[in-house]
Amino acid sequence: MAANYTRRKFLRTTSVAVLAAPAATRAAEDTAGGAKLAKLGGPKAVQTRPGKWVRWDEQEQQQLRAAIEQPSLFYWQGRGPNKQTATLIERFRQYCPNEHVVTCSSGTAAVHIAIAAAGIGPGDEVITTPISDIGSVSGILFQQGVPVFADLEPSTYNLDPKSVARCITPRTKAIIAVHLAGTPCNLAPLQALAEKHGLVLMEDCAQAWGAKYRGRPVGSIGHVACYSLMNSKHIGSGDGGVVASSDPKIGPALLKFADKGNARTDPNYRWDQTAVLATNYRMSELQAGFAAVQLTRLEGIAAKRAALGRVLIEGISDLPAVMPPALDAADRGTFWFFYFRLRLERLKCTRAEFAEALRAEGALCSAGYIPVPLYKLPYFQNHGFFAGRWPVKELGLTAMDYTQVKCPEAEAILATGIQITLNESMDETLMRETAAAVRKVAKHFAA
Ligand SMILES: Cc1ncc(COP(=O)(O)O)c(C=O)c1O
Repeated sequence: MAANYTRRKFLRTTSVAVLAAPAATRAAEDTAGGAKLAKLGGPKAVQTRPGKWVRWDEQEQQQLRAAIEQPSLFYWQGRGPNKQTATLIERFRQYCPNEHVVTCSSGTAAVHIAIAAAGIGPGDEVITTPISDIGSVSGILFQQGVPVFADLEPSTYNLDPKSVARCITPRTKAIIAVHLAGTPCNLAPLQALAEKHGLVLMEDCAQAWGAKYRGRPVGSIGHVACYSLMNSKHIGSGDGGVVASSDPKIGPALLKFADKGNARTDPNYRWDQTAVLATNYRMSELQAGFAAVQLTRLEGIAAKRAALGRVLIEGISDLPAVMPPALDAADRGTFWFFYFRLRLERLKCTRAEFAEALRAEGALCSAGYIPVPLYKLPYFQNHGFFAGRWPVKELGLTAMDYTQVKCPEAEAILATGIQITLNESMDETLMRETAAAVRKVAKHFAA
């Protein structure tokens, strides 16, 4: 529960040695004009703007030129000289060691492929988070599985292993751990649960490129990893995805679920005999070439975001009315965005008023993330997934009733959070000024 998330717990889960804001942030606070809010005519706390955000350049152009000199833009090499997909797969494997790596059209596709390859079928339950992109969950429904929503930890915004344990039933087949906003999930207890109950542990790393759990890249710990290369992610190719596994049952099945049932590279594959029902989730050579270059930029992007996020955490961690995001000292978070929570009972304002005042200070921020937890979407509430119907419920394969689902911590996370834009075009000065803006607004509204 949020109220129980004490300073002691924060100290245990962060590497920040001092809770008082560092001198540089306090200096930024002083020059921010003391207590008078910009909204009320005071000077803005944030004067620094992001730099020019160059996400791709001649290197990607060169790679695309090389691709269009190939005789084919199809992913599968066959006997041809196509190189882009092979290069992306090789670089991905170096970044995130997995024996089987398959490129695909999106992060949503990656999760759907993983679900299908794990053999999730009608009525099988998959435990996951109610705070994510719908792409974390739609693949479960398309395979006629049943998403089961567990509650979250108050300050990582990721699955609470205790809540996951309570959700396990004889029908549970898998857990999808989503590393939200680039913060690694608490994977060890989830792994222990998966092992104890014979479950597949999937990692949805769409928002967590470059993040590390205990020194290892996310996506190299569970049974299967799913990544998105959609435009807004740390790295991308407009759209795209990667799904990977070293599991001997899941790994070899990935390719056929990405390519209409065709495991083209499997020597035992027979189109007429071994194919399965699957859709077309292929990625072309053009996207693969682009993404292969983007992967070479990842470490720089991840390290920068990790450092900027730390500055923000340090700058706001002593404020009684603010809950900074928690990050274990042994992990690396790569901040797809920065999300902190307000203790509204310690403030004389609403979340909307806080966000408005913060924006007036020049901070790049907005209130909340997704408007409601996924189970509150109308098609979950009326179980109308397929032309208004849900066959697994009609067949008696599940008694799930999403109108009865409640994840109080997840709902509180969405109701009390402020999102700050963070990316590699920014610098530490901007982060310190942003922290000073949060401090100024929090002090102004302190109850
Ligand atoms: C956690 C998470 N999973 C899955 C997806 C789906 O990725 P895509 O948009 O590439 O389908 C997203 C996209 O934002 C995401 O954030």
